[in-house]
Amino acid sequence: MKIKENDELLLNGNYNIPAENILLTSTTDQLTNRREHTQRANVFRVAGLFAGIGGLEEGFRQAGHKSSMLCEFDSAAQKVLQAQFIGTEITTDVRAIASLPDCDVLTAGFPCQDLSQVGQRKGLSGPNSGLIEHVFRLLERQKRTPRWVVLENVPFMLTLNGGHAIRAITSTLEEMGYAWAYRTVNTQAFGLPQRRRRVILIASQSDDPRPPLLATDVEPALTQTRGVHACGFYWTEGNTGLGWAVDALPPLKGGSALHIPSPPAIWFPRRRLIAMPTIEDAERLQGFVAGWTNISDDPAEARKRWRMVGNAVSVPVAKWLADRLTAPHPKFSPRQNEIQPLPTTGGWPSAAWSYKGQRSKAQVSDWPIALPRAHLASFLKRDVVPLSKKATSGFLSRLVKSKLKYEEAFRLDLIHHVENAQ
Ligand SMILES: C[S@@+](CC[C@H](N)C(=O)[O-])C[C@H]1O[C@@H](n2cnc3c(N)ncnc32)[C@H](O)[C@@H]1O
Repeated sequence: MKIKENDELLLNGNYNIPAENILLTSTTDQLTNRREHTQRANVFRVAGLFAGIGGLEEGFRQAGHKSSMLCEFDSAAQKVLQAQFIGTEITTDVRAIASLPDCDVLTAGFPCQDLSQVGQRKGLSGPNSGLIEHVFRLLERQKRTPRWVVLENVPFMLTLNGGHAIRAITSTLEEMGYAWAYRTVNTQAFGLPQRRRRVILIASQSDDPRPPLLATDVEPALTQTRGVHACGFYWTEGNTGLGWAVDALPPLKGGSALHIPSPPAIWFPRRRLIAMPTIEDAERLQGFVAGWTNISDDPAEARKRWRMVGNAVSVPVAKWLADRLTAPHPKFSPRQNEIQPLPTTGGWPSAAWSYKGQRSKAQVSDWPIALPRAHLASFLKRDVVPLSKKATSGFLSRLVKSKLKYEEAFRLDLIHHVENAQ
């Protein structure tokens, strides 16, 4: 059956992706299948575990769905949730939850400290990331399992300890009768100038998870050469890496447990300026409205905002996913020669799936879509905060002693900034 142009837009969840970028193999029953899903598309009740400040949940809300329960341990993040999701039940500790409310979607961006490169690297046996076992415990207790389970974490989860975490998670899901698909996606693809790669895994006992997550792929629309564009970097680094990002910020981070804010810096070559974004622009760089975490005038509370924003899922990523889950999809039928077995040892690829007993790598990029985006310098709405003389000279001395490659113009502007900074 031939797909007409209008159908293509529909297939794509109303995101205007050119037809040639829709990676689907042909089927005979696309229309039937599509009608079936349209009838089932409705408002999802979303239960959010490890909700943080609600990046996933806000994305689902923007797509028209409703949060029925939020669970978050951190008291500052709880206050944000109370202010932003008025009327939604908030519980505090996933370990203490006996059962979930009846829900259509369960979101769980579980803690990444034991999985991230800067973390302790204990994998799923660590005290934080090991909390995912409560997701499985709660799912097992549900009489009516949610239609979709959405997990989110850092890409390092795919390779740490020979892929132990992703192997354990996907095997458990399979034992519980779930089909799953995961994909690494980049926040830059969703209209925001922040290079932030995160793994989104969706699982279902009823639906095929591959079409919503894997069926579209576009050419990354990146600013390739610096030109006059601003560049983001981590001024706290400079020994073995820079976190360099052209016309974008490197990933905003959760910062230290002591709530010491660690925002990245930006080099504005046109202004010969080294500065940091404000917290309000950092919120916008994650897709929240400015002031989303502004819950207290107490400076000690205010410092926690960077950590909370750095821990969040970028809102437009979640909105895109939510839209894709309700969009009608044709059947996903990879040809046999497109099925590529997953490695039996070592890390796993950046995207993969398991459906009806078959597992495969997925040949997709981290750009499922390319939403229009502003250049970093024009995206920032607030005045930036110049990096202090001390911080800049510390970074500069590490940089020149390191073996890192950097532009001479960058070094000269760092010196210029040190000479002129307060
Ligand atoms: C990666 S962040 C979550 C990001 C969030 N899902 C979003 O969409 O923006 C992980 C969160 O898990 C929370 N957390 C850690 N231990 C928890 C526990 N025992 N119960 C509930 N939440 C917990 C942390 O405080 C943190 O906010």
